[in-house]
Amino acid sequence: MIDANEASSLQRVRSVAELRARTNIWKTNGAKIGFVPTMGALHAGHLDLVKRAKGLADKVVVSIFVNPLQFAPSEDLDRYPRDEQGDVAKLEAAGCDLVYLPTVDVLYPEGFVSRIDMKGPALGLETDFRPQFFSGVATVVMKLFNQVGADVAIFGEKDFQQLAVVRAMAHDFDLNLDIIGAPTTREADGLALSSRNAYLSREERAVAPELQRQLQAIAASPDPDAAIEAAKAELTRVGFGKIDYIALRDADTLGPITQTTRAKRLLAALWLGKTRLIDNIPA
Ligand code: PAJ
Repeated sequence: MIDANEASSLQRVRSVAELRARTNIWKTNGAKIGFVPTMGALHAGHLDLVKRAKGLADKVVVSIFVNPLQFAPSEDLDRYPRDEQGDVAKLEAAGCDLVYLPTVDVLYPEGFVSRIDMKGPALGLETDFRPQFFSGVATVVMKLFNQVGADVAIFGEKDFQQLAVVRAMAHDFDLNLDIIGAPTTREADGLALSSRNAYLSREERAVAPELQRQLQAIAASPDPDAAIEAAKAELTRVGFGKIDYIALRDADTLGPITQTTRAKRLLAALWLGKTRLIDNIPA
């Protein structure tokens, strides 16, 4: 159903039937559909994905759904920032054609029992600290792909392991759509944009860019192992809390670097107060 009080021309859709009715018209007309899945609280990084989608497709669908399946009970599902009005206004300005806002009941009705269980790039890193995370992400992304019927989907390199997991899933399940990765959008001081940055206090926000500076220092070092240890010490010194990982990996497999490694990626996740930050760069 489209909202009766909808002020903008951007179509807001909340049911699968309505979504399919809209996209089927586009498909019948031969339009190529681009898709950007999000959890809302949109920032310039999300909007950059929308702009890229517009360059790759005729019509752009954005979904906003805070997916309970990818949050552990101890995590921030309840306090995750939500701003539907603000998000819709930003999406309209960015030229999005349809925003899909399903409820939990629409995606996971009573009796929903299936999960996608992945290995390969889903192993290690985030999974060591959030064991349920990629199963939740892959399951919702598979559902959203099937509902939207997109030709191309855009994901940010900000969540580099997620991008690798989605690529592997699309390949393994023969999904008929292209997965495109987009570079991380950053603040002027280097901090990667994230909806969770809203949790940072003023003091924490001032310290946060040190993560990016330390990653750059590691990537530039001839001795990455020693540089990682030095970076951990410096991050702790300036006020970061628990460091979940700072790891140099094969950019394609996300496993250890081997003789066949073509490109390396430096990935990190760590805590600043009550906020968990993640970031990564080529190395
Ligand atoms: P969310 O964190 O809202 O991110 C939605 C998309 O925006 C993801 O592809 C993410 O990588 C990208 N993104 C976030 N910050 C970015 C930045 N600074 N620069 C570039 N891209 C950025 O990721 C999710 O939601 C969810 O896991 C989802 C895929 C929607 C499944 O629930």
